[in-house]
This record gives sequence, C-alpha cells and structure tokens, in this order.
Amino acid sequence: MIPKECKRLAEVDFPIAEVSRHSAREKSIRHGHPSTLHLWWARRPLATCRAVLMGLLLPDPCDPLCPGDFKESARKALGQLRGVGKSDEDLRRALLAFIADFSKWDNSSNQTLLEIALALVRAVYPDGPPLVVDPFAGGGSIPLEALRLGCEAFASDLNPVACLILKVMLEEIPRHGPKLAEELRRVGAEIKRTAEKELAALYPKDPDGATPIAYLWARTVQCEAPGCGAEIPLMRSFWLCKKPNRKRALRCRIEKNAAQAASLLRESLRTSSHHRGFLPHWKAEGATYFVTFRLAGTLPKIVLDRLEQDRRTQEESLLRRFGQIPEDERRKLNDLFSAKVEEYLDAGAGECWLAGVVRSFGAR
Ligand SMILES: C[S@@+](CC[C@H](N)C(=O)[O-])C[C@H]1O[C@@H](n2cnc3c(N)ncnc32)[C@H](O)[C@@H]1O
Repeated sequence: MIPKECKRLAEVDFPIAEVSRHSAREKSIRHGHPSTLHLWWARRPLATCRAVLMGLLLPDPCDPLCPGDFKESARKALGQLRGVGKSDEDLRRALLAFIADFSKWDNSSNQTLLEIALALVRAVYPDGPPLVVDPFAGGGSIPLEALRLGCEAFASDLNPVACLILKVMLEEIPRHGPKLAEELRRVGAEIKRTAEKELAALYPKDPDGATPIAYLWARTVQCEAPGCGAEIPLMRSFWLCKKPNRKRALRCRIEKNAAQAASLLRESLRTSSHHRGFLPHWKAEGATYFVTFRLAGTLPKIVLDRLEQDRRTQEESLLRRFGQIPEDERRKLNDLFSAKVEEYLDAGAGECWLAGVVRSFGAR
C-alpha cells in the first residue's frame, strides 16, 4: 500500500505536450469512438482522462516514501517495452513516457500496453482494484478510462441524457457486446417504419416526387406596401450548410400570397364570401362557379389542430394589440388561414381520388 503522504506522479510531472497532441487528434476520430454513440458537448478526450488517471494512481518513484515493491514491479512491467535505467529518475521518466504513449487513441486497445497499464495499477493496489468515483460523469470519459485501467468505477450525473449514455456505454455495451448493435439496428428500423407510416400525411411529396424529410418553421409577416401583400418568412439566415464543397442555402422566392390574390380577384369581380357553414363560400356576380368537397384524409386532424393553434396565437396577439379584433384584421386572418388550408390541400395528402382523372383530363 502506498502511504498517503507519498506524492503521486501527476503531482511532480506530466507529459502535457504529448497528451495534448493526442487529445486534440482524438476530436477528429469518427470511427469506434464513444462520441459517435451520442453527442455530449462537454465530453473530455479519452487521452487526457487516461493519462491523468494513470498520473494520479501511480506514485512518484523519486518520493522517499515510494515502496520498493512498486518500483520493482514497475521496472519489470515497463521492461517489456524498453530497458529502464537504474535510478528512480530513470523510472519516473519511463513511467511518464509510457503514460504519453498509452494515451494515444491508436494504443487504447493495444494488448501489450493494456497489460502493462493493468500491471502497474495492480502493483499500487495489490489487495484489489481502487474505486474511481465521478459524480459529474457527463459523457463518461473518466469512468470508461478507469475501467480500462482495471479500476472499479462509479459514475453519476444530474442530466438524464448523460445517465443514459453512461448506462449504455459502461454497463450495456460491455454486457451484451455486438449483439446490442444488431438489436439497436432492428428496433431502429422498426421505429422508422412505424413513424414513416404514421407521419406520411404530414410530409406530402414535392411536385418532383421527392419526399421532404424536414420543414423549417418560421413566423411570417405580410408586406404592407400597397398592392404587395407578399408573405415574408422571419428567418435569421437562409443557410442550411456552410461546409466547404457542401454549401447549401434556401432561396426565398416571394410570391404574392393566395390570400392577397384572392382578395384582389374578389374586388374585381365584386364577389361576396362566406366561411364555415355556407356553401358556396364565394358568390361572384355573373360568374360560373362550382363546389368541391374534400375527403377527410386530405386534411388530417393533427394538421387542423396545428392550424387552429396558430390561428388562436395570432388572434390573441391581435386582441392584445387592439382590445378586440377589427373586421379587416379578422378578414385578413380568414384569408390567411384559408390560403394555408388550400396550400396543404394542393400538396395532395390523403387518397386523392380525382388525381388520376385530372391527369388524364389534362393530357387530353
Ligand atoms: C464538464 S461536464 C462533465 C464531462 C465529463 N467528464 C465527460 O467527459 O463527458 C459536467 C457534468 O456535470 C453535470 N452536473 C452539473 N451539476 C451537477 C450536479 N449538481 N449533480 C450531478 N451532476 C451535475 C452536468 O450535467 C455535466 O454533465
């Protein structure tokens, strides 16, 4: 047993330049690194944790209180790599060089280095492995490295995401091995299939047949310039990706919105419009019109609920502004939401019974 008063290696020296170099390089490792398991923002490099743990577990051989047994075992273990000089300073240098070497990512599963590291820790704790406690374990770099060095590890965190990462990385993966990855793929594929089926109505195909995988949601304002009425999305940036060779951005194409077009048309035709229970909604003097019905699936409840919620939010904001909603604002709101409904219907969700008919009609 090392006396408490005996200094640990990290208290006297540390191969900081090499460990920093290995730690910085680790950032770009994508394959097989725990960082690919789940993003964790404050994750510490494994190289640093491994080296610091070694530096804290091993005693300084130059300390007069460092037991001779340890020095003898350490010389023997390190001797497998290279000869170690006779003095305590030589042993210290050899230990620091080993720590620097072993902290390198490529060496993390090098069997020879692993066995030397385990032998060194065993030489300090011959009666059983030490316990490393990390109550703020986050992505788990410290307890993972403690396990690698043959210690017992206790890890906890306030954040439940961190706890899940810790549980999977420190308990489940060692327990189940590659079987866990297969199971994860199987369950993931099942969830994907179910989600695709349930969400299909919310992701109608684009006119070119492509299926959108995400929508960007933005509040919009309507241009108040006379005769404009364009709907402008309030977005900080239209950039989607700025990586070199993969630059992608949205182009904002402003069109006069359907509501504005509708109200201009209504003015020129001297039409009257009704909403909700009235059919037809539009009555245009001297014009021919027809009435269409939509099928229930063309506008799923979840979409209707979302529109209702948006509408309520806008009504509340108008109420806050005016006390009660002025007639022209209410009309604008009606037009805006009718346009949103039309836009969704035009996207062709649901069964679209007439789609084939319209196509063949168009071809003729
Ligand atoms: C700097 S991070 C730890 C990073 C970790 N060493 C790694 O390599 O990923 C600090 C962690 O402390 C956790 N934390 C903060 N306050 C806490 C508390 N009172 N109890 C437990 N965990 C806490 C945070 O959730 C965060 O994960």
